[in-house]
Amino acid sequence: MKIGVVGLGFVGLSLTSVLSSKGYDVVGIDIDKEKCKKIITGISPFFEPELEKGLKKGLKKKLKISDNFSLINSCDFIFVTVGTPQNMNGSIDLSIIKKAISTIGQSLKKNKKKPIIFVKSTVIPGTMKKIILPILEKKSNKKAGKDFGLISNPEFLQESSAIRDTKFPHVVVLGDYQTKFMKKAKIFFMKLHPNVPIIITNHETAEMIKYANNSFLATKISFINQLSNICQKIPGANIDDIAKTIGLDPRIGKLFLDAGPGYGGSCLPKDMKALINFANISGINTTLLNAVEEVNTKQLEQIISLTKQKLGNLASKKITILGTAFKPDTDDIRDSIAIELIKKLLKMKAKIIIHDPKAIENTKKVFGDKINYAKTVRDALSKSQCVIIMTQWKQYKKLNNNEFKYMEKKIVIDCRRMLIEKQLDVDYLAIGLGKE
Ligand code: UGA
Repeated sequence: MKIGVVGLGFVGLSLTSVLSSKGYDVVGIDIDKEKCKKIITGISPFFEPELEKGLKKGLKKKLKISDNFSLINSCDFIFVTVGTPQNMNGSIDLSIIKKAISTIGQSLKKNKKKPIIFVKSTVIPGTMKKIILPILEKKSNKKAGKDFGLISNPEFLQESSAIRDTKFPHVVVLGDYQTKFMKKAKIFFMKLHPNVPIIITNHETAEMIKYANNSFLATKISFINQLSNICQKIPGANIDDIAKTIGLDPRIGKLFLDAGPGYGGSCLPKDMKALINFANISGINTTLLNAVEEVNTKQLEQIISLTKQKLGNLASKKITILGTAFKPDTDDIRDSIAIELIKKLLKMKAKIIIHDPKAIENTKKVFGDKINYAKTVRDALSKSQCVIIMTQWKQYKKLNNNEFKYMEKKIVIDCRRMLIEKQLDVDYLAIGLGKE
């Protein structure tokens, strides 16, 4: 059996790496020639733990990487993993997936096989039936369910644990009618992920499950962030003890209750906006989802207000930002709250120096020489008047008085409560911690 993966971003390349390292005959396809050239040498275009290891293993086996879409003609399964970014008004931008689907449709025309096309890209409910299926049928002159299979297969992997999540997903969702294609898909996933629940449903429900998942995660984060703001007003209150305790209630669950600067990344903010936009167009008032977004936006203001509380006017103040990646173990800064924070601080004419173990190069692409970049945390802190910890990189947990010693003013704003247990000779403020 041959597998094609169209779109080599986080989802596509992780899938390619995992399947090919297991020995599946895989062809990874991307329109970006330069990206393909890099991947062929076993190098990932972005940092993701364990990804390159699997990629190199796959390349030694049967893996092929190409920008030539006609290679999907020989595939039995085609996974579509291209991006679905957002338009200016928050709605979903389907132009990339439409183009990819068109090309797949054209190649289906001459194809003697009856492949199954799995759509992993996040798309708003109705997209499969109203947009993707008609394009495929028109371009191929063939019928879905008869000449080829079309299955919604949303993805739940997280960046920074993408390989583990691809190998061991918590669920597999397959959306389509009960056809021979669905039977074949089910057998494939049962073999690939034994003991993992497989949910078979229709396209619309599968599409909505993805939004339900991400919007619920965003809701949990905004909930704990709002509570953390209340805690800051209660002397001695600690949000982590509260999160840990309520998380023991099986009805709540312990994950995604880490208070911080708000959710960022390429998925939660975008998917929240797309869902709100879709719901509003459908005539649904999204009171709760709007509030989740509002809390998230205001969290950034909280950080600025804490900084002003300590430094007064921020013009010319030297501020260090630790971590610009939207979370640890990635170099991804898309929709990172730290990037938003730097933009706001620059507007207030603060002088910014940053440190990040992996995301410096990406950060340079945004700010160029408007800010300074430090190779070590110590350099980043030297003569600084305030440090804001934004990303919970493990190495920041080790910070101690030695590192803070050369700061001009020893003000630490810890958005992730990483140093809460340390005896530090600094003026320490943390999100979710009530000052005694
Ligand atoms: C998210 C979902 O978690 C995945 O299940 C989903 O597949 C993916 O989007 C997607 O749609 O592709 P990801 O964007 O990799 O994954 O990042 P998360 O781990 O969800 O983190 C998102 C943001 O929330 C980060 O800024 C993180 O720092 C923040 N966060 C997360 C918190 O502030 N507190 C928490 O307790 C958890």
